Amino acid sequence: MYVLGIETSCDETSIAVTSDNKILANSVSSSVHLHRDFGGVIPEIASRYHVEYINHVLKKALTGSGIGLNKIDLIAVTTRPGLMGSLLVGAAMAEALSLAGNIPLMSIDHIHAHLYAGFMKNGASIKSKAGRGKPDLRFPFVGLVVSGGHTSLFTVNGVDDYKLLGRTFDDAAGEAFDKVAKLLNLGYPGGPEIEKRASGCKVNKKIFPGRSSSEDLNFSFSGLKTSVLYYVRNRLRDKHILSGDKNKPDQIARLTNNLGHKEINDIAASFQEAVTEILTEKAIAACQREGMRRLALGGGVSANTQLRKKLSARTVQNGIRLYLPQKRLCLDNAAMVAGLGAALYKKGRRCGL
Ligand code: KG4
Ligand code: ZN
Repeated sequence: MYVLGIETSCDETSIAVTSDNKILANSVSSSVHLHRDFGGVIPEIASRYHVEYINHVLKKALTGSGIGLNKIDLIAVTTRPGLMGSLLVGAAMAEALSLAGNIPLMSIDHIHAHLYAGFMKNGASIKSKAGRGKPDLRFPFVGLVVSGGHTSLFTVNGVDDYKLLGRTFDDAAGEAFDKVAKLLNLGYPGGPEIEKRASGCKVNKKIFPGRSSSEDLNFSFSGLKTSVLYYVRNRLRDKHILSGDKNKPDQIARLTNNLGHKEINDIAASFQEAVTEILTEKAIAACQREGMRRLALGGGVSANTQLRKKLSARTVQNGIRLYLPQKRLCLDNAAMVAGLGAALYKKGRRCGL
């Protein structure tokens, strides 16, 4: 079946056309450049951008796929969770198209869609030796969603059957990357910037408490983020660049560049090491606890090369097959929304306007 997927939950305006799990077009336009100066997504700017660009993105997806609206069998749209104003733009577009073309609608959960990315054709690549010869992701599996808004572990038993194993109590992993990058003056979004700067740099495992209990499958990144703040503050004090009374993150961020390029890169590398170690440990622990031999990732942070390498090594050691979406499908996109829509429709789920 031909599905039109619509994704506008945050700062990416995306529309895709799929034929079941095969991606025919996946058009993405991002407002990320408009949020850079603020170091984070400004909801009002994001929703205005969606309004301005969604028609253009739709045209591009339809032209790129060669499938006209008259051939679309289902419209799948992200309706939760996300920025309310942004979600509304995608939902309004979906309802208008549904009404005009008498096309059924499917309401999609963004987190579940991230976990579906591994099913999209050419959307998953096997990294673990244990998976050779059986490349397709199938249920059940342990799913780790790591994005700017979410860090959660699930047992996924079916397309509509998710058991939450653990989640973050404070910052999401991507949010921690973004906030630490802001402190280090590395720009936004922080994940790719930290990854770039950390490449080939010295990791000091002692400075950040990246290790955590693998018995508890919940996450917490605020302590790690604070320890980066205190480390930077203390280094600035050691160098007599910061006086004792300035402790706020924005005051410290204004002075961070005084540490020099190399030291900032080493801090970025040590922070990245800590986050990726926590995510890897918990994901492996979840597989072991659930007796699961398949692990699938989704969300922006799963594009991180260090995380992909660590997970690849640890899953091989533990006889687990690892499913990593292609990097373009880790970030927000409508192809994963359309794919999940088709699967839910086939399972019998129906939604009204
Ligand atoms: O899934 P996504 O596009 O949007 C949400 O649903 O939140 O994820 C965006 C997040 C941002 O926090 C960004 O810094 C992070 O993913 N991210 C990365 C990388 N690429 C994007 N984090 C670490 N390493 C990366 N290469
Ligand atoms: Zn996302």
